[in-house]
Amino acid sequence: MHSFRYVKDQLQCEDVILADLVKKHGTPLYVYSQATLSDHFTKLDQALAPLDHLICFAMKSNSNLAVIRTLADLGSGFDTVSAGEIRRVIAAGGDPRKCVFAGVGKTEEEIAFALDQSIYSFNVESEAELGRISRVAVKRRKIAPIAVRVNPNVDAGTHAKITTGTYENKFGIAFEEIEGVYARASRLPNLRLRGLQMHIGSQLTEVKPFAFSVDKVAPLVARLNGKYGFDFFSIGGGIGIVYKDALASGSEGWWKTPTGRRILTPSTYAETLVPKLKSLGLRILLEPGRFLTGNAGALVTRVEYIKKTGKKNFVIVDAAMNDLIRPAFYDSYHEIVPLGRRGGKTVPSDVVGPICESGDYFAKDRPLPKVGEGDCLVLLSAGAYGSVMGSNYNSRSLPPEILVNGRKASVVRRRQAIPEVWAGEKLAAWQGRKSKA
Ligand code: LLP
Repeated sequence: MHSFRYVKDQLQCEDVILADLVKKHGTPLYVYSQATLSDHFTKLDQALAPLDHLICFAMKSNSNLAVIRTLADLGSGFDTVSAGEIRRVIAAGGDPRKCVFAGVGKTEEEIAFALDQSIYSFNVESEAELGRISRVAVKRRKIAPIAVRVNPNVDAGTHAKITTGTYENKFGIAFEEIEGVYARASRLPNLRLRGLQMHIGSQLTEVKPFAFSVDKVAPLVARLNGKYGFDFFSIGGGIGIVYKDALASGSEGWWKTPTGRRILTPSTYAETLVPKLKSLGLRILLEPGRFLTGNAGALVTRVEYIKKTGKKNFVIVDAAMNDLIRPAFYDSYHEIVPLGRRGGKTVPSDVVGPICESGDYFAKDRPLPKVGEGDCLVLLSAGAYGSVMGSNYNSRSLPPEILVNGRKASVVRRRQAIPEVWAGEKLAAWQGRKSKA
C-alpha cells in the first residue's frame, strides 16, 4: 500500500492535505510518508520470517536522515556505497555494525573509515580491491569482514542503465572465477571471508530472474561455506514497484493495479526464494532500496505557464530535471496527478521544467486534466532515486523534504537558500573583488 490518496478531492499524504504543505513550504517540494516506509519494510521483513535475515536498506535510493532513522528504528541495516553514506547512518542514529559497504571504487580512506566503524561486511568488486582491503586492515591491525560480489551473468530484463548482473557490466567477479578468487583471498592477511554477495539489477517486476540467479549461485555458496565457514549470503536488491496506476493501486494494494497488472509482492518473492535459501543454513541479506522508498514519496510542483504550439500543449512547471532526473535519464514514467481532483476532458500534455535542455521533461503527450498557471501537479513514486539524484544545475536550489506521520508533518530538509548553491566557491587568488566590466 501507499499513503497518497484523494480525500474529498484533495490529495493527501496520510492525514495531511498536500495543499496545506504547499501553502506553508512552497514548491517544488518532496513529501514522504512514514507509514508507507514502515509498511513496506514490515511486509518484507515478515515475509522473510522463516529465514535468519537482515534487510540492509539500499540508502542510495533515499538517504535523508529521517528516512534512515525510520528504517533503523524498525531494525534495518544499510547497504552503503561511500564513507559519506556510512557517516549519514551514524548521523541518523543508525548502527554502522549493520552496514555493508559496496561499490567498485572504494578509496583507502573509505576502507580505513569503514574498518574503524566495525561495519558488517565489505562487498568486494575486484581482486585489486581485496588486496587493498587486506593491506589497510594489516596497517590498522583490524580484521576486515568481506563478501565477494559474484556476477551471475543473468539478464534481469530491466532498463539497460540499471542492469548489473551480466558480463557487460562493471560489477562483481565472473561466476566461473569466484572459487579461485576466494582461494587467493584466504591466503591474504587480516581478511575474514564472511559471505558472498550478488545483485542482478533494479526495478525487477518478476520473480523469475531472482529465482534463476539464486538457483545458479546457491550451490556455489554451499561449497564456499563448506570451505570457509560463511555467515551470510546477500541476494542484493532490485524488487520493483508500481509506477503506472500508482495512485489507484494504493488503496487496492500496491502489488496489483486496477488494470490488473501484477507487480512482484513480498510474499511471491519470499514464497519462491525462501525454500531455495533455507537449506543453506546461512543468514540471508537483502538490499532493497526502491521497494522501501519509491512509493513512499512524491514531488509536488506548480504550473508556471501553459504554452501551446501548433503541435503541443506544454505545461511548464517549477520542478526540473535537477530535482527529479529519472524521466530525462531513463525515460522513466511517473504518474502525474493534480493536487485537487478534477473531472472533465483530458488534454495530451508535455510536462516540462524550466531548464535549458530538451531532456528536461517529466512526461510527453500525457493525457492530463486541464490545468492552468498556479495549479499544482504531483509526481508520484518519486521517493526512490528522486531527491538523492538532485543537483544544482542551472543554479537551482535543492527543494525541501517533508516527512509525514499521520497528521504530523516535519521539514526533514529545508529548502536550500540560493547563495548556498555557490557557498563553497570563491574567486581565484589573482581576481579582484569586483569585475572591471
Ligand atoms: N544493491 C546494489 C549492489 C545496487 O547496486 C543497488 C542499486 C541496490 C542494491 C538497490 O536496488 P533497488 O532495490 O533500489 O532496485 N537510479 C536508478 C536505479 C539505480 C540502481 C543502482 N543500484 C533509477 O532511478 O531507477
